[in-house]
Amino acid sequence: DMGGHDTYMHKEIHEQADAVDRALRGRIDDRFSTVHLGGLNLDAREARAVRRVKILGCGTSYHAGQIGAQMIEELARIPADAEPASEFRYRNPVVDPDTLYIAVSQSGETYDVLAAVQELKRKGARVLGLVNVVGSAIARETDGGIYVHAGPEVCVVSTKCFTNMVVSFGLLALHLGRTRDLSVADGKRILAGLRKLPAQIEEILANEAQIEELAKEYADAKSMMFIGRVRGYPVAREASLKLKEVSYIHAEAYPASELKHGPLALIEPAMPTVAIVPDDELLEKNRAALEEIKARSGRILAVAHSVQEKADHTIVVPKNEHELDAILMGIPLQLFAYYTAKAMGRDIDKPRNLAKSVTVE
Ligand code: M6R
Repeated sequence: DMGGHDTYMHKEIHEQADAVDRALRGRIDDRFSTVHLGGLNLDAREARAVRRVKILGCGTSYHAGQIGAQMIEELARIPADAEPASEFRYRNPVVDPDTLYIAVSQSGETYDVLAAVQELKRKGARVLGLVNVVGSAIARETDGGIYVHAGPEVCVVSTKCFTNMVVSFGLLALHLGRTRDLSVADGKRILAGLRKLPAQIEEILANEAQIEELAKEYADAKSMMFIGRVRGYPVAREASLKLKEVSYIHAEAYPASELKHGPLALIEPAMPTVAIVPDDELLEKNRAALEEIKARSGRILAVAHSVQEKADHTIVVPKNEHELDAILMGIPLQLFAYYTAKAMGRDIDKPRNLAKSVTVE
């Protein structure tokens, strides 16, 4: 039942405020400015012993893991990174007993992720799951974990589950941070930020008419560049994947800082750029990248916390705490991908060549 929406993708995009609310419900602990994650099976002593975090997933879940790794580094100051599960399992990785491994998956059935989990367990590693489908294979094989509680996701293209994964990583990062050096004051600040998310998501979705217009305007592009820096980079990667999957427009994502090392050669009016421009310590650097693109007469659509003068268009999103900004900045670009695909008459819920869960190698 699509409840009045024309596709599951549209419905699921619009379910995100409720979905995030579910991810937070019952988990916030105001007394200690932290969160309770019941299924983690990791006591405070074990949490403190973690020296490194390695996050594994595929596609959108890998991108959620990249944002998660940044949140864990920022809030808990534990070195963390994400890698595609398939790459990890085929390169005979060094498995380290002091590393906490986290497998991320909507379906909990993705074969490459499951195989990575099994290999890790065979080598004695501690593996947690960050999974949507309760009781799925990855949820069963891991030592503990976090259910992201996005609810059923039908569209092949992941939207609300991505958002709930990133929120769940925010919870985990806060939890790990508060077993270490994150102060009570910072814990309170992050909790306040998390609580603001559902209303801010509604605010972004209320801007749908502007995004629909912009999608029509850019739907003639043969290819699009997505750029971001640090927190904005995984957002750019995910937005680029979303556009490719659902509209079949070619898109590339680059760190803004890498533009001048090659991809700037592609910039011309037929190759518009979507730039993620949070109002953080990198704002001036990002503005400089917009100038470089403008100087090559590239069209720019910015997703930012305030209107960007150098951009042709800006989608303004509400500001949260800077550590959590990545959660919100991709949401307008889900709608952008949806409306682009719609303008092009694509089969939005079932893009060609793709399956909802990839249970083969
Ligand atoms: O079920 P999973 O999260 O493990 O699936 C991983 C990818 O196959 C999935 O995210 C894929 O990239 C989606 N089509 C993205 O929209």
